[in-house]
Amino acid sequence: MSAAVFRGLFGHDPEGEWAAPGRVNLIGEHTDYNDGFSLPIALEQTVRAWARRRDDGLLRLASTRTPGRVVELDVAALVPGGDEGWAAYPAGVVWALRRAGHAVGGADVLIDSDVPAGAGLSSSAALECAVATAYADLHGLALGPRELALLAQRAENEFVGVPCGVMDQMASMCCRAGSALHLDARDLATRDIPFDPGAAGLVLLVVDTRVHHDLGDGAYAALRTGCERAAALLGLPALRDLAPADLDAALGRLPAELRPLVRHVVTEDERVRQAVDVLEKDPAALGPILTAGHASLRDDYRVSCAETDLVVTTAVAAGALGARMTGGGFGGSVVVLVEQGAAAGVAEAVTAAFAAAGHTAPGIHTATPSRGAHRVR
Ligand code: GLA
Repeated sequence: MSAAVFRGLFGHDPEGEWAAPGRVNLIGEHTDYNDGFSLPIALEQTVRAWARRRDDGLLRLASTRTPGRVVELDVAALVPGGDEGWAAYPAGVVWALRRAGHAVGGADVLIDSDVPAGAGLSSSAALECAVATAYADLHGLALGPRELALLAQRAENEFVGVPCGVMDQMASMCCRAGSALHLDARDLATRDIPFDPGAAGLVLLVVDTRVHHDLGDGAYAALRTGCERAAALLGLPALRDLAPADLDAALGRLPAELRPLVRHVVTEDERVRQAVDVLEKDPAALGPILTAGHASLRDDYRVSCAETDLVVTTAVAAGALGARMTGGGFGGSVVVLVEQGAAAGVAEAVTAAFAAAGHTAPGIHTATPSRGAHRVR
């Protein structure tokens, strides 16, 4: 369908179609920029890019969300911090590729997406990774998924100006169907941890609270700076280097305002270890680990909000095995692990609780661990 839209907009056929998924992180939140661990899965929902190279240095970008509009940029004149809106993400990828020494030029690109934006499901990383994969493929660049993830992160950090870690881009590039991705953010080592909720009689629900999630508002950057200050005060390269056994002693050496941040990061890395352990033996046992992670994000890291807390308490009271906010926080989505027979009741309870509290109705979907970025045709 969108190949026809591409033809209508640009007057010729695309050379191919590429896709990159959104993600939900099962556990390991706000650990990536502390060199720690996380455990995301890729969603079935993807950003798709249709692209064709141009030889005049123009990058022409269109989205099915803004029908008929084409943003036209000169790739040689791309500079960080402009006001391109959504187009800054694909433009940033082209900028990052060129900054890394890859002689890539212009292109016509059409974007379509079913990853909800602002829902904490990494729609921006998916957009970056779809365009990075398309560009690498079209130009025959010898770049693997890790290198593309790093370039996509650089686009977001330096071109768009959002100080995110690398988890979302790594998830979108590297996840595999039927697995969660164990990521070590220090050296980008990954391990596929088989996870098939259906085969275990489980359902993973993703509840979009519809509360807008924006990493650019300074709160995320402030948390990141707090963690870096704490590591420096403790004489450590990063908080990942603080062992759980040394946590209490370390907290005593820190100013009061940094203690909860450090407690969250250290216990969260530990929860990732526990999660990997139970996924291999008894996936239902992941539930309480999720709920403990939520409590830590709510009470120590303080990135939850009334709506995410309401989903978690309602889902658990209605019989879910466990639940937690996922992603950066300040709204966004909640991941809920529930036995198959209880899923419909949990979804109904959450919807009813939102109506009773006067919140906008949540979006509720089932998540299936899916594949990372790839060429579609
Ligand atoms: C956002 C960032 C990630 C990560 C999470 C929190 O999604 O983009 O790098 O820090 O928040 O875990």
